[in-house]
Order: sequence, then structure tokens, then C-alpha cells
Amino acid sequence: MKFFLDTANLDQIREAAAMGILDGVTTNPSLMAKEGVSGIANQYAHYVEICNIVGGDVSAEVISTDYEGMIREGEKLASLSPHIVVKVPCILDGIKAIKKFTEMKIRTNCTLVFSLGQALLAAKAGATYVSPFVGRLDDISEDGMALVADIVKMYRTYDYKTQVLAASIRHTHHIIQCIEVGADVATCPLSAIKGLLNHPLTDSGLQKFLEDYKRVNK
Ligand code: G3P
Repeated sequence: MKFFLDTANLDQIREAAAMGILDGVTTNPSLMAKEGVSGIANQYAHYVEICNIVGGDVSAEVISTDYEGMIREGEKLASLSPHIVVKVPCILDGIKAIKKFTEMKIRTNCTLVFSLGQALLAAKAGATYVSPFVGRLDDISEDGMALVADIVKMYRTYDYKTQVLAASIRHTHHIIQCIEVGADVATCPLSAIKGLLNHPLTDSGLQKFLEDYKRVNK
């Protein structure tokens, strides 16, 4: 399973890249705003900087909600770096735009996916990735991870090549569940990835090894 970092924060991206386990990054307009990145020129420069750090797929989202605007924006974003994947919302014009981007050989991430039917449309349009939002479904008492599992099953049944990118991952156990249901990618906060390291037996075991070493190596 691939790990993407769900952030536009350069320090966190550098930290995850330095761990050697980072496969890509996903951003969205909210995450860009959180970093205070405003203005088109600054946003494009920020995406390029992320691409240079990661060396893997970087999702950059269009703001337009109409077909022509999405195509215009997506072409510009894709021209910034070969690592850019154009992120497009799962709405009618978005599906049309994904189909067009597929024909243009521009890679896409269909975002804001909350149902199996939406995931079917994304795959039929040729999306590179589909992003079911796990945490936001959990937030309204639905089962976000069950949707990820259903999409994985559907894509395997019908042999769709679209990769299932579990998004809106909130904590470490979500990552474990992604592995269990066979998600292709989990895009996570850095804290959730680091949480995978935590085990009290590792800590106590290491402490004992070091104590024993010191005992005979005074
Ligand atoms: O990948 C999508 C993500 O950024 C949304 O996460 O926590 O705002 O639901 P969240």
C-alpha cells in the first residue's frame, strides 16, 4: 500500500520524505489555505516545491466547477510538473472533465467521493485515482471504510484500473483498516503515519536490550 501525505505543509512533507516512506502528496483548497498560500502564482510555486520534495504523485485540485474551467485549470496544473495529478470533484462536469483528461493523458484524482455509484462513474471516466472520504462518512455515523472495501471489490470484479486512494484518514487505526480492505493508497496526516510505530513492547524491549548491554560493557 502506498502512503501519501494529506497536507500542503512543506516541513511535514520534508519530514515524511526523510523517513523514506513517502509515495506522494494530496492537497486541497482547504489545506492550501491552512498554509496561507494565496494567489495563483504562489499556489503554482507551492505545488512545484512539493513535487520537488516528493518525487511522486502530487494531487492539485481545480477550483472551477464548470467543464471548460476545469480543463483550462487542469492543463495548467499538469504543465507544472510530470508529478502533478489533477484533482477534480465528483460532479457532472467533473466526470466529463476526467474523461477529457483521460483522452489527453493527464492523470486525475476524482475527489469528494461518498458512494459506490460515484466511484463507478470515476472509473468509467478513466480516473487514475478515486478518493473516498472515510472520516467524513464516519462523522455522519456512516461506515467510511466499508465504502473503501466496496470500491476495491467493485474495481477488482470489473477490472477497473483506477486506484483506490482512501482519503479523510484521521488516525492510525484507519491506516490499518485500509490495509485490511486492500486500498491501493492511504493519504494520511503525518501523525497517523508516525502512530504506526508505537508499541509498548518495542519501547520496553529496547530499554531492556540497552540495559543488558550496559551491564556487561561498563
Ligand atoms: O484527503 C481529503 C482530506 O483532506 C479531507 O480530510 O479530515 O478534512 O475530512 P478531512
